[in-house]
Amino acid sequence: MNLIAFVKTVDQVLAFMETAWRRYARMMGTRSLNVAYILVFVVLCSWLLLASLIQTPRIRVQQCRLLQSLNDKRTSSYSNDERLKLYENMTGELDKQGPLFLGDGKTSQSLKLSDLFSVINGKIVPVHKVANPPVRAVVLYLDPDAAHEIKQTIESILSRHFPKTGLWFQDPDLYHFSMHHASHHQNPVPATLEEINSEAAAVRQVAEKSLILEIELERVVLTPSGVLVGCWQVSKGTDPAVIREELRNALPRSPAKQLYNPVIFYTSFARILSAPLTARKDYSADAVLEILKGLVSQLNQNLCSKAAVKELWYVEELDLLALALKGRTRIRRFQLQSDPKG
Ligand SMILES: *[C@@H]1O[C@H](CO)[C@@H](O)[C@H](O)[C@H]1NC(C)=O
Repeated sequence: MNLIAFVKTVDQVLAFMETAWRRYARMMGTRSLNVAYILVFVVLCSWLLLASLIQTPRIRVQQCRLLQSLNDKRTSSYSNDERLKLYENMTGELDKQGPLFLGDGKTSQSLKLSDLFSVINGKIVPVHKVANPPVRAVVLYLDPDAAHEIKQTIESILSRHFPKTGLWFQDPDLYHFSMHHASHHQNPVPATLEEINSEAAAVRQVAEKSLILEIELERVVLTPSGVLVGCWQVSKGTDPAVIREELRNALPRSPAKQLYNPVIFYTSFARILSAPLTARKDYSADAVLEILKGLVSQLNQNLCSKAAVKELWYVEELDLLALALKGRTRIRRFQLQSDPKG
């Protein structure tokens, strides 16, 4: 119900009651008048309480861990259980390996952190290395509305805990899920322009067979190499595992060894490049790890997003990790399909 209309109605009722009571008090004397005022006071207080309850913004559900939708039969065809196991495993790796990025850690794609960033005038700047031949990646694209909200939350929680040069935020207009590589720097498959065009056409056909995904952020994980990744589950649409299989069939020249587990579904949000400000030099590695875990847990309490994935991209990365580091790219975007069943 419209709140303003509601308030007006209550006002009218109160006014009517007060007039009635005054009339009654005139007939019955002052003692009753006092009783009438107390009554009006009580009614007013209850009304104020009710109004404030209605106006209080609904508190956001803080934990996405147990997605209700995962329990119903409709979604049991998704690989969510398998993904959950992977995410549990990823969460445990930081404890197991420790924050390698505070040493001279390697990144997920065997590039050293010092290869990826440099500091220029007190600002962190990505280092772009030419990929020859360009990497050809197929990615799903996270809806930018959700991406911007996530980025803001992460920034507001992490920024004050790190020096300016200690954090790199991914561009929220490029949050993506790696699906498949037609060529990769560890396993290059050169292609002519013609071959590239036919790969793109094949990816378009996969997009034309796939439904828009509705997804939920299951958790945020900090990897031992310092990447803050969002791990997602699927509640509607075509499962990423199915899309990966379609892509493998559609792109037969691709490297047999792909980079990712076939069901995994994550996006990188940020990279942590230094120890938190609160970690003094004399802190033990374990103490630093505890601080980092505390921050990740804060993120998990505040980030709980539903989002949509509506596009499949065929991306030529002319620089290594160009999507992650804002390097040079050639992007072809293909729309996924709306579910005809609604
Ligand atoms: C994650 O999985 C890998 C490969 O199966 C295994 O070696 C590792 O111990 C697991 N990590 C954790 C923390 O469970």
